[in-house]
Amino acid sequence: MSTLYHVLGAKQFDRQLLDRLFDSAKEMEQVAVRGGIQRYPNKIMSTLFFEASTRTRFSFESAMHRLGGRVIGTENASQFSSAIKGETLEDMIRIISGYSDLIVMRHTDIGAAKRAAAVSGVPVINAGDGSGEHPTQALLDLYTIQKEFGGIDGLHIAMIGDLTYGRTVHSLSYLLANYRDVRISFISPDNVQIPSYVKQYLDEKKVAYEETSDLESLAGSADVFYQTRIQKERFPSVEEYSKAEGKYIIDRKLVDTMKRNALILHPLPRAGEIHTEVDDDPRAAYFRQAQNGLYIRMALIEKCFGDQDQ
Ligand code: NCD
Repeated sequence: MSTLYHVLGAKQFDRQLLDRLFDSAKEMEQVAVRGGIQRYPNKIMSTLFFEASTRTRFSFESAMHRLGGRVIGTENASQFSSAIKGETLEDMIRIISGYSDLIVMRHTDIGAAKRAAAVSGVPVINAGDGSGEHPTQALLDLYTIQKEFGGIDGLHIAMIGDLTYGRTVHSLSYLLANYRDVRISFISPDNVQIPSYVKQYLDEKKVAYEETSDLESLAGSADVFYQTRIQKERFPSVEEYSKAEGKYIIDRKLVDTMKRNALILHPLPRAGEIHTEVDDDPRAAYFRQAQNGLYIRMALIEKCFGDQDQ
């Protein structure tokens, strides 16, 4: 069995590891339905969140509980940890890694998870590092696509919205490079386009992609619509934010022009960019997607612990 140690970025996943992870997530669905197992009664997971979170933190904590483990942590680490007294991230991680067997961390700074891993005595999972990456979200996004379509090769994926600050699209683009004949359309306002370093990686991996500002003309041909929130909190000014806000909305009218088996995804939370009138459409998969986060995170915890049982 392939194992993981730290989960810092999406580039560390190859096709074989993804297949194994998805097989194990599928098994975890059955485990979760039965209420869980006592797999890790002596293990403790720390959750250290410097930024707001609902899905990521709750699903990680639920995943650890379903595996019989225990959880300690803080949901507001910038105020409720010694960060407020000026303690460095490195010192904090050294201490916490002595109190737990796994650290799940969300931080405001790009590269923070890597810095943490460099000093940690236990595995570190990146639950989002500023506008950098969010690998575990991208894994659950991809798992959802695989589950709903039965495969990923050959699909046309449209990524929409804030492609600069939206960390999930960076990680998802990297993961998609593992599949054959995938095509990506990046659709964004002019001031939040996909970063050149992501395009460079796709070029290296020979992934076909295009950048466009026209969502309507793609609506009838793409298989997956990956909508994202404009990341208001990361803009340098309100003026810049208002240039990007409200440009691309998925509403009933647009969905009516999509293919019958298209899939609408969103990492959530949404802030008006998918109308609630779309929620009952079978193509709207974002709540199923969020549920899959539990199974993927159970599988990830298991992989991080490798063959250790207790
Ligand atoms: C995303 C994030 O935190 O990057 N949310 C999540 O983890 N599901 C997306 C967002 O905040 O817009």
